[in-house]
Amino acid sequence: MVCVKLGKDIMSYNTYYRRINRIWMTGILIFGTIFFVIQVKFNTSGRHWWNNKSITIILNNLNIPISNKHGTRYTSGFYSHLKKNINHSCAFPPDNLNGFEPLNRSVLSMASLINNFPFMKNGHYRPPKCTPVQKVAIIVPYRDRKDQLKVFLNNVIPKIHRQQLEFGIYLVQQVSGAAFNRGMLSNIGFVEAMSDMNYDCVVIHDVDILPEDDRNLYICTDNPIHMAVKVQQFDYQLPYEGFIGGVTTFSKAQYQEINGFSNLFFGWGGEDDDLYRRILYHDYKLIRPFEDFGICGSVLHKEALKSSDRRKYLSFSAETRRMDGLNNLTYNSLKKGKKPLFNYILVDIGQDND
Ligand SMILES: *[C@@H]1O[C@H](CO)[C@@H](O)[C@H](O)[C@H]1NC(C)=O
Ligand SMILES: *[C@@H]1O[C@H](CO)[C@@H](O)[C@H](O)[C@H]1NC(C)=O
Ligand SMILES: *[C@@H]1O[C@H](CO)[C@@H](O)[C@H](O)[C@H]1NC(C)=O
Ligand SMILES: *[C@@H]1O[C@H](CO)[C@@H](O)[C@H](O)[C@H]1NC(C)=O
Repeated sequence: MVCVKLGKDIMSYNTYYRRINRIWMTGILIFGTIFFVIQVKFNTSGRHWWNNKSITIILNNLNIPISNKHGTRYTSGFYSHLKKNINHSCAFPPDNLNGFEPLNRSVLSMASLINNFPFMKNGHYRPPKCTPVQKVAIIVPYRDRKDQLKVFLNNVIPKIHRQQLEFGIYLVQQVSGAAFNRGMLSNIGFVEAMSDMNYDCVVIHDVDILPEDDRNLYICTDNPIHMAVKVQQFDYQLPYEGFIGGVTTFSKAQYQEINGFSNLFFGWGGEDDDLYRRILYHDYKLIRPFEDFGICGSVLHKEALKSSDRRKYLSFSAETRRMDGLNNLTYNSLKKGKKPLFNYILVDIGQDND
């Protein structure tokens, strides 16, 4: 027998190779584990798409069919959150969705819209025969775009109706004068909607960016959801990774926790980038639907005045976000009312002082 000397041990070649093998195997195991951990971390710290892989794993574990006949799929967040709230109850996933449908761009009269949606009462709908999984407030910051509003109502109402949610629409209109302040109008919409009803979820919805696929659900989960992923006016792609404009959903608690939007952004743009920082600052991750579910049409308009001050506000948003938002909101509401298809709040939010 041939022997080798390894330190103090005398051993056979067989033992020697076995030991070397063991060292290799251990090494491979350790590096494999590290690699795996990095992969998992990388995947989960990236985008939270509703992807096939995560959905398959989760739905298998929950023993829920992976898709209904329209192929609707959801993330873990979705299900763990919704399961708590389901009390048999409206079908969930909703079972009469149409999938993708191009925007209907006809501008109908308000009278025919009201006529087409007789199930809406006082800007509100509740499924009559089942308990909806969530109560959702649709908040629309608005000014002087009557035709867009009509297109909005004609496209959005039937989609949420098919999703079997309880919902109310809140149009928050700013009187002319000061530059448009989308953030502050959204905060006002939140306060007004919550004082009207105890909603679970708010959707901040531009009047001119409209989902074209009803599998993109107007609903809230354990993280905010950005619904407007592929928007026509941005060539159907995300303009940048942190873009959260268009249509975004928050649970009541999430919106309160991040202190809503900043009130400081008068003029077009900036407030949504600041909002994204608030979301990250509170350790939330943005959830986005499958890209194809997130397709939205744009109802074109002349571009509003860009805010000249948006960089300035963004640069000190870290210090101000604790004091500036929902918790120091003051406004003067001039008029409030309930129309058949929406709640209406006219506000004077003063002038940008700079
Ligand atoms: C998900 O799976 C379906 C069919 O199983 C496939 O058609 C689709 O491309 C997949 N989507 C992604 C994002 O992988
Ligand atoms: C579910 O519905 C029943 C009957 O309407 C009601 O008594 C019960 O409180 C509900 N449960 C939950 C968790 O909402
Ligand atoms: C748009 O909607 C109206 C009202 O529902 C309908 O009468 C019209 O046919 C639709 N147009 C298209 C192109 O689908
Ligand atoms: C809210 O607080 C910010 C930061 O202190 C301030 O600039 C802003 O004017 C306040 N807004 C209102 C409506 O009081």
